[in-house]
Amino acid sequence: MTTYIDIDPDEISDNPTEGPDFADVAAARASRRGLIGGGMALAAGFLTTPLLAGPAAATTNAPTTAALRRHLLGFEAIGPGYGNEVVVPPGYTARAFVPWGTPISGNFPEFRPGENSAADQEHQVGMHHDGMHYFPLHKGPRGNEHGLLVINHEYTAEDLLHTGVAGVPPVSAWTAEMVAKSQAAHGVSVIEVRRTAGGEWVVVPSRFNRRVTANTPMAASGPAAGHRLLRTAADPIGRSPIGTVNNCSMGPTPWGTYLTCEENFQGYFAVESGDYPAEVQTLMSRYGVGGDRFRWATHDDRFRVTAADPNEPHRFGWIVEIDPFDPHSRPIKRTALGRFKHESAYVHTSRGGRVVVYSGDDQAGEHVYKFVSSDNWHAARARGRSPLDEGTLYVARFNEDGSGDWLPLVQGRHGLDAGAGFADQGDVLVKTRLAASVVGATRMDRPEWVAMDTNTGLVYLTLTNNTSSSKQENAANPRVPNRWGHIIRWRESGDDHTSTRFEWDLFVLAGQGRDSGDGSTVPAEAAFGSPDGLWCDADGRVWIQTDGAQPAGANDQMLAANPYRRDAHGAPEIKRFLTGVAGCEVTGVITTPDQRTMFVNLQHPGEGVPSTWPHLDGITTPRSATVVITKDDGGIIGS
Ligand code: FEO
Ligand code: CA
Ligand code: CA
Ligand code: CA
Repeated sequence: MTTYIDIDPDEISDNPTEGPDFADVAAARASRRGLIGGGMALAAGFLTTPLLAGPAAATTNAPTTAALRRHLLGFEAIGPGYGNEVVVPPGYTARAFVPWGTPISGNFPEFRPGENSAADQEHQVGMHHDGMHYFPLHKGPRGNEHGLLVINHEYTAEDLLHTGVAGVPPVSAWTAEMVAKSQAAHGVSVIEVRRTAGGEWVVVPSRFNRRVTANTPMAASGPAAGHRLLRTAADPIGRSPIGTVNNCSMGPTPWGTYLTCEENFQGYFAVESGDYPAEVQTLMSRYGVGGDRFRWATHDDRFRVTAADPNEPHRFGWIVEIDPFDPHSRPIKRTALGRFKHESAYVHTSRGGRVVVYSGDDQAGEHVYKFVSSDNWHAARARGRSPLDEGTLYVARFNEDGSGDWLPLVQGRHGLDAGAGFADQGDVLVKTRLAASVVGATRMDRPEWVAMDTNTGLVYLTLTNNTSSSKQENAANPRVPNRWGHIIRWRESGDDHTSTRFEWDLFVLAGQGRDSGDGSTVPAEAAFGSPDGLWCDADGRVWIQTDGAQPAGANDQMLAANPYRRDAHGAPEIKRFLTGVAGCEVTGVITTPDQRTMFVNLQHPGEGVPSTWPHLDGITTPRSATVVITKDDGGIIGS
């Protein structure tokens, strides 16, 4: 029986010098510090202040009550999963929806595994579902049953794509049609969906339905648009990039658009040997360009990098804005948000209406960023400007004492000058990783998703793992190696998300359980590893999704944490809510506004192991799909 300490801003006095609540919080922090082990000093002074400081300013959510917060996780936790079915708690139902190949537009080509053409794939849901958002099509209750589901497709399984069965064809068999089909299975799907009277969700044939792929014409905007490093033979102006790839996490904007992140873009290119300019060589090295992972370079010269035309890779690694409500709109690469292996684009409207966009760079030793717009977003848009084109990009430094600094990446400041290779702001943005190193950003254990609890203003970040035993230890990434990953969080100074100062602490260290000796802070019954997807619902539940190694070889999973309750060891209350199928990762989570329908993606079921999930319509090819979760009593998911 676990005893929990309730930590609730509604219950805690504004005067932190007296009262049991403060003592409990401090005790929890002290005991958690002890768990870190090895004399590692956990960030001081964080939990003693932030939850006492009252709710954050800009939130559209009604404050949740103290009673609700104590009982946020009303479901019965499930055990780890090992099978080929999705498991959710008793009283919940999970159904597969819009799997790869679902026809959504054009002549609605039926899914025929291994037989569909590239042209068919352009009208079907892509592969490898990842980040996702639900945009209601109506204000009020009708918006809970009718909306646009927008889904990222991170990458492809070329064997399943071309043959319908496992086993990759030899490179010698590659054709231009195969490359085109692979490119068409990438990108983003916009799908109008509706809940029927029977409670089933269906695809609506709709003018909104759209595929954005690796071949969709786009625009570049912001300070790096037109930069010499973005110019190619096919686009000498450098403002018309084509396509988006490796779309992992994402974020919705308050003005109703979708930001999709380009993560591992580097592997799509083959690099010819040649006499490259030194700065291009440096960039290719820092971003790891090369590998021709999907063999596109065999038939598409755009992905064959040459010394004579070396800049195509610089046109990827951005955040791309898509307007799902305008199917004819051109997606726009927003260069002010920087170029790296973007994971997450969490957008928050600060006091004063400036938008803040948080984003991680998912690679061992890379960094965490935030962009702050120059202007109130309403005002910018009223002037016909994008709030994402003008502002300051910052990178995080997590100090050992629990404080943190957002370091501006601005040309001419902090060593970002021409002598260091940063002659203009375009240089800073195309070479974001290099700029971050110059200003002294903290090396992190693979930053993934960012989420905010809008009730408290606390920002959470998953650090999925870092298995290197020679990685640089720091207080924010305390385990070497970090096999299981952790979740860090911070409070912006004064609850002002445009601030350049913050305080941080470690929310949870993942692993096999706190008694296992692996340094984890979770109880064994909530063991997990490789946290990746992350989302806070309106009540404050922190939904944690995994991608990668799990304790005891279990399938990837989704858990929910209650950040308002901590046990005697200082760990948050945390319960396993969903287990995925063999070989999949669990990624992407959103609910309808009423929180009574949840959408979760299972990506790459059967990767490396046998699976026929979701085994719909007698099809045995494993397919990424969205899982629609409802509570049988019609209640709020997780309650
Ligand atoms: Fe695509 Fe960083 O997960
Ligand atoms: Ca991810
Ligand atoms: Ca994955
Ligand atoms: Ca991942």
